[in-house]
Amino acid sequence: MEATHILCLILLVEFVFFQVNSDPVEDKQALLDFVNNLPHSRSLNWNESSPVCNNWTGVICSGDGTRVIAVRLPGVGFHGPIPPNTLSRLSALQILSLRSNGISGEFPFDISNLKNLSFLYLQYNNLSGSLPVDFSLWPNLTIVNLSNNRFNGSIPYSFSNLSHLAALNLANNSLSGEVPDFNLSNLHQINLSNNNLSGSVPRSLRRFPNSVFSGNNIPFETFPPHASPVVTPSDTPYPRSRNKRGLGEKTLLGIIVASCVLGLLAFVFFIAVCCSRKKGEAQFPGKLLKGGMSPEKMVSRSQDANNRLTFFEGCNYAFDLEDLLRASAEVLGKGTFGMAYKAILEDATTVVVKRLKEVSVGKRDFEQQMEVVGSIRQENVVELKAYYYSKDEKLMVYDYYNQGSISSMLHGKRGGERVPLDWDTRMRIAIGAARGIACIHAENGGKFVHGNIKSSNIFLNSQQYGCVSDLGLATITSPLAPPIARAAGYRAPEVADTRKAAQPSDVYSFGVVLLELLTGKSPIHTTGGDEIIHLVRWVHSVVREEWTAEVFDVELMRYPNIEEEMVEMLQIAMSCVARMPDKRPKMTDVVRMIENVRQMDTENHQSPQNRSESSTPPPLVIERES
Ligand SMILES: *[C@@H]1O[C@H](CO)[C@@H](O)[C@H](O)[C@H]1NC(C)=O
Ligand SMILES: *[C@@H]1O[C@H](CO)[C@@H](O)[C@H](O)[C@H]1NC(C)=O
Ligand SMILES: *[C@@H]1O[C@H](CO)[C@@H](O)[C@H](O)[C@H]1NC(C)=O
Ligand SMILES: *[C@@H]1O[C@H](CO)[C@@H](O)[C@H](O)[C@H]1NC(C)=O
Ligand SMILES: *[C@@H]1O[C@H](CO)[C@@H](O)[C@H](O)[C@H]1NC(C)=O
Ligand SMILES: *[C@@H]1O[C@H](CO)[C@@H](O)[C@H](O)[C@H]1NC(C)=O
Ligand SMILES: *[C@@H]1O[C@H](CO)[C@@H](O)[C@H](O)[C@H]1NC(C)=O
Ligand SMILES: *[C@@H]1O[C@H](CO)[C@@H](O)[C@H](O)[C@H]1NC(C)=O
Ligand SMILES: *[C@@H]1O[C@H](CO)[C@@H](O)[C@H](O)[C@H]1NC(C)=O
Ligand SMILES: *[C@@H]1O[C@H](CO)[C@@H](O)[C@H](O)[C@H]1NC(C)=O
Ligand SMILES: *[C@@H]1O[C@H](CO)[C@@H](O)[C@H](O)[C@H]1NC(C)=O
Ligand SMILES: *[C@@H]1O[C@H](CO)[C@@H](O)[C@H](O)[C@H]1NC(C)=O
Repeated sequence: MEATHILCLILLVEFVFFQVNSDPVEDKQALLDFVNNLPHSRSLNWNESSPVCNNWTGVICSGDGTRVIAVRLPGVGFHGPIPPNTLSRLSALQILSLRSNGISGEFPFDISNLKNLSFLYLQYNNLSGSLPVDFSLWPNLTIVNLSNNRFNGSIPYSFSNLSHLAALNLANNSLSGEVPDFNLSNLHQINLSNNNLSGSVPRSLRRFPNSVFSGNNIPFETFPPHASPVVTPSDTPYPRSRNKRGLGEKTLLGIIVASCVLGLLAFVFFIAVCCSRKKGEAQFPGKLLKGGMSPEKMVSRSQDANNRLTFFEGCNYAFDLEDLLRASAEVLGKGTFGMAYKAILEDATTVVVKRLKEVSVGKRDFEQQMEVVGSIRQENVVELKAYYYSKDEKLMVYDYYNQGSISSMLHGKRGGERVPLDWDTRMRIAIGAARGIACIHAENGGKFVHGNIKSSNIFLNSQQYGCVSDLGLATITSPLAPPIARAAGYRAPEVADTRKAAQPSDVYSFGVVLLELLTGKSPIHTTGGDEIIHLVRWVHSVVREEWTAEVFDVELMRYPNIEEEMVEMLQIAMSCVARMPDKRPKMTDVVRMIENVRQMDTENHQSPQNRSESSTPPPLVIERES
């Protein structure tokens, strides 16, 4: 009691301290000067008396809260020129996005002192005049998008000096003159279309498709296709994963068709088995679930007579416990609540069988819980097909997902290889899993808890979206063994007993999964020495120290144009892993926030203000051009 109070007090003090500490006064004034001198049609919640770092739309601070490092204000309805001597005072700025506004006037030349500027998005404004002559003033520029403005003059040769430059979009301006021969090996994407450029395509840019130069006075026939350098777009950055995905879908379709056929066969088989059993035939070979599940510990014959597998309505599987026991089985892994097996039935149907240990409730409660779990039919929740309860054995039967869990894709399975996951896939995993968990939280009068969210319990469904498994077990099993257990990295600080898991602790665990997707790191990992690193703490420390791109998975660095989305996702993840449970957003808010980052199969096109209502963490404003 006493101790808890003291702990709470410490946390509170820490929180308040952080809040007070996190106001970079000078940057705040610069931002206020900026916004007060640039008319805008939508109101911003930039209240002088609220903290910049936590509450101002579109502003991100360094981890220690001393500097503003990102300003993202797309679609706020700014009109007029950028007021001088405002943004230029944000000398630690790394990301500047003012896209999709009506900003006019010249390029804001005074930002030349923002030496750390890496991402510059000014597309879809009304900027005119010439571009800065010397882009080497911003040596770290990685993505520059100045498209859809009215810039004129020539393309500065100084882009050549930007060794990090990965994407350059100058399309839909009025640029003229010849295209300089940049020698930029990191440049993955460029678009110079719809300008007034002339001359020929320089050697170094011939690896890009013609569409990049379309809408100019550049004749394409000046370079014979065979003479162009060997690098074609199809052997640079992306195709690998695309191909993989296409193949995956085909394979999956094949599996679905196959399982339909097999289902039918299984039914015939089932009838046959039923008939033969009526004759009292006792066939119970020792083949059952070999490969881990020891036969002698398995259900005894007599129990079997009374306890059958309970299938859920609409389940098209046709096998019974005996078939299951006869099946050849392979250990998939030792989960939090027991062993998981991949069981291949005689008819080749493949299912996952979970063998629960330490179930701490009686049959009735178990069944009740299973009924809730089994009733959830949502594309982002792995369906429970059947369960089995006897005194000695508790089994759960799920569909088998042949691509493996997100954990095995991200970290490799037992030293195996990582599966490359591109950013789109990671976004679909995140949004799918979030929707699944939100759906689970809506069950049982809005009180249902998953209790064991981790990347090894998330799979890819047939649409390649995230899909969560293993729900509702935490509350019916005995408390876990010591915190060294694998789930430890996912466990919210307030959860000492897994049975006490609550919805905010699910949100925490989901936040850890998001961090895994962003960093590619395990929730608990070791560095060179024996030091054990908790992902959440590690991210906090990296972010606190400099907030560079270092926190992100290097594998993601190859994709241009995702920086903003990654930073937004990081922001969401950080809000989920807030130390105080009541500071974490609700799962439905998390879904909305992720959907705001990327409009994925949702149609809602609201104004930024409407979208950000009622989201607890800093609102995210994203306006997608269409
Ligand atoms: C700013 O916040 C204070 C209290 O925090 C409030 O009284 C004031 O009305 C707010 N101002 C604006 C412009 O929203
Ligand atoms: C931050 O904004 C939220 C609403 O957007 C508000 O409830 C909260 O009180 C604000 N926090 C501070 C410290 O101003
Ligand atoms: C720029 O970034 C580096 C490291 O990322 C940091 O050390 C430096 O202080 C930053 N510069 C400014 C002006 O913030
Ligand atoms: C550019 O970024 C790197 C890290 O990505 C940093 O170490 C360096 O200080 C930055 N350069 C400048 C001029 O800030
Ligand atoms: C762009 O700016 C020019 C003046 O520089 C103005 O005449 C024009 O209406 C502006 N266009 C838009 C779409 O705001
Ligand atoms: C660019 O446009 C401005 C007017 O917006 C004009 O004064 C200037 O001469 C133009 N420059 C070039 C190189 O066309
Ligand atoms: C690149 O940078 C070097 C030194 O910073 C400078 O001398 C050179 O002129 C620059 N090149 C261009 C094309 O701007
Ligand atoms: C630049 O903006 C345009 C329009 O929003 C977008 O289509 C393009 O992908 C962006 N390009 C880069 C390199 O960011
Ligand atoms: C250029 O403008 C055209 C027409 O408005 C648009 O279709 C195209 O997507 C724009 N290009 C880029 C790269 O934004
Ligand atoms: C391009 O840059 C590379 C190093 O980045 C250099 O080896 C090569 O000689 C350069 N090519 C030209 C044509 O300048
Ligand atoms: C395009 O450039 C040519 C010269 O190369 C010039 O005569 C023409 O006026 C320019 N067109 C526009 C729309 O700027
Ligand atoms: C460049 O932009 C034009 C439209 O402005 C578009 O048609 C073309 O596909 C783009 N090229 C690339 C490679 O993005």
